[in-house]
Amino acid sequence: MKLKDKVAIITGGTKGIGLGCAKVFAKHGCTVVICSNDPGSGQEAEEQLKQADAKVRFIECDVKDEGQMTQLIEQTVQGFGQLDCIVNNAGWHPPAMTIDQISVADYESLLRLNLTSTFMGCKFSLPHLLKTKGSIINMSSEVALIGQGEAAGYVSSKAGQIGLTKALALDLAPKGVRVNAVCPAGVMTPLMQEWADTQYDPSAALEMVDSWHPIGRMAKIEEIGEVCAFLASSEASSITGQAICPDGGAALGYRR
Ligand SMILES: NC(=O)c1ccc[n+]([C@@H]2O[C@H](COP(=O)([O-])OP(=O)(O)OC[C@H]3O[C@@H](n4cnc5c(N)ncnc54)[C@H](O)[C@@H]3O)[C@@H](O)[C@H]2O)c1
Repeated sequence: MKLKDKVAIITGGTKGIGLGCAKVFAKHGCTVVICSNDPGSGQEAEEQLKQADAKVRFIECDVKDEGQMTQLIEQTVQGFGQLDCIVNNAGWHPPAMTIDQISVADYESLLRLNLTSTFMGCKFSLPHLLKTKGSIINMSSEVALIGQGEAAGYVSSKAGQIGLTKALALDLAPKGVRVNAVCPAGVMTPLMQEWADTQYDPSAALEMVDSWHPIGRMAKIEEIGEVCAFLASSEASSITGQAICPDGGAALGYRR
């Protein structure tokens, strides 16, 4: 129960890694607010979490929209009285494309979804996090550190999240707010399945991704949730400005 009596917002908490974080935070005693721009998945996730006795609320919010992000944070604080953590997790990996295939408009739109949303989550939650001496967790990716082919837009957005994390960590450390990034390699999620389904043989594609990890498999959503729960807890009180890689050893030889 390392997050007992805490309140956290998890953007994109209705599926994949965000849902894994929501499950694990709730297991550790945290009240969780999950958001998505897809109300169907939101209601389903809320129901699933409530059945496991979680204290949870779904709020519909498109993280690209400044007004909706402000509302998400204000409604959370009005509803639960405080905010101890925000996990800026909502994001998307577009299909593989070379730079000549990516329009400037599509590049900017991806930055808005993956990076500007993270900036807004940090900015609008900060007044409340200063009161609780809370923490920020930004869901980046290992490819932000090691690169990835045909993913210039995605890697830019994920590397931007790490830069933002380090800059804010410096500003906020004296004020008692910690800021960290989590950089998974492959994680088995609906997004990963979406990618596999574009391949000739989806099962073989997933097996190939598993094989890129020295532990022999991708991470599970709950494993990433446990890393985030640790970072959000007082156990991680000396950790700020870090990009933590729960990657099954992948960086030691990704796609070797
Ligand atoms: N799956 C992986 O292998 C992997 C690896 C490294 C990093 N990541 C990162 O983890 C995060 C989650 O990835 P995932 O694999 O769980 O994805 P996913 O597609 O399975 O889930 C994404 C979640 O974000 C929400 N979302 C998407 N667009 C949104 C918007 N505009 N507003 C609000 N919510 C929105 C979705 O509703 C969903 O709840 C992403 O930022 C991704 O870049 C994933």
